[in-house]
Amino acid sequence: MHEIIKKLSAGVPLNIDEFKKIVENENSSFKAEITDMAVKQRKNIYGNKIYIRGLIEISSFCKNDCYYCGLRRSNQNAERYRLTKEEILECCNQGYQSGFRTFVMQGGEDAYYTDARMTDIVSEIKKQYPDCAVTLSLGEKSYETYKKYREAGADRYLLRHETADCEHYSKLHPSEMKLSSRKKCLEDLKSLGFQIGAGFMVGSPYQTTENLAEDLLYLQELKPHMVGIGPFIPHHDTPFRDMPAGNTELTLYLISIVRLILPYALIPATTALSTVDEYGREKGILAGANVIMPNLSPVLQRKKYLLYDNKAISGAEAAEQIDILKAKMNNIGYEIVIDRGDAANL
Ligand code: 5AD
Repeated sequence: MHEIIKKLSAGVPLNIDEFKKIVENENSSFKAEITDMAVKQRKNIYGNKIYIRGLIEISSFCKNDCYYCGLRRSNQNAERYRLTKEEILECCNQGYQSGFRTFVMQGGEDAYYTDARMTDIVSEIKKQYPDCAVTLSLGEKSYETYKKYREAGADRYLLRHETADCEHYSKLHPSEMKLSSRKKCLEDLKSLGFQIGAGFMVGSPYQTTENLAEDLLYLQELKPHMVGIGPFIPHHDTPFRDMPAGNTELTLYLISIVRLILPYALIPATTALSTVDEYGREKGILAGANVIMPNLSPVLQRKKYLLYDNKAISGAEAAEQIDILKAKMNNIGYEIVIDRGDAANL
């Protein structure tokens, strides 16, 4: 283990067995060492700055049927909504005033947002807020569609790979969804010059230690600019309703490991993490994360975008209550900044 930690801190790539060994040693005395190294690494590169992103959940319609997600098309009980261009622009307006310089438009795979509609929205935001970054998180699209998004001015794209193991992927998704398509999308996005974000859930059903090692190996190869890691949380209207939620400590440990594999990565302390743990945001930052994504969606729609049960949407999760978040971050020695928050190695 000592040798592996040495390699990790020196930026030497690890193999699958080494990653497996690290994950298996979560409860060992090495954990504190890894956390310390991760925090030092992020401080060296990003100081005590925390970047914020205004999350605008533009649609709860989805054509996919992922077994874990509350927005899956088979969920008849999900309340569906979609935002108009005007509503989205109003979110940006409020967000800009609160200090946000990145807007993330996330939604289910919703055919209403044709390429024409989406590029119109993206270019309007870029026109009105030229000092802001636009991030999209709208799922799997063709190369041509991604190209249009990019030409309209989108800067970044988030698409979690969910799991880097084909077999595990097929246990989380219906057969029409393939890990190979997901990976191709990430490659396409990268080649188009997007800053890309991948990531996975911790403790998703049937996940093994080996699977997590594969996720780490995949991230090491892909080198995404952003990595989203959050615990799986069951949703009562999905096939996984009775599955246990992912573990906070393991999630934090993986955040630290990813910080060491990809020192420059922008890593959020996710909403899922603060849903399972009251101090999730703080703990995420103290494990090596450096991004927080408060909710900037219209308040009336917020409770309809339910990927999982009990999703945290109030207090420090809410963009309009950014002061609460600022105070929380100050309390642990960090500072929220008004900044696009691009990766420092771009
Ligand atoms: N628990 C935790 N995270 C989830 N996501 C979707 N459903 C759940 C769930 N039940 C995550 C997926 C997706 C991101 C938008 O939300 O990783 O990529």
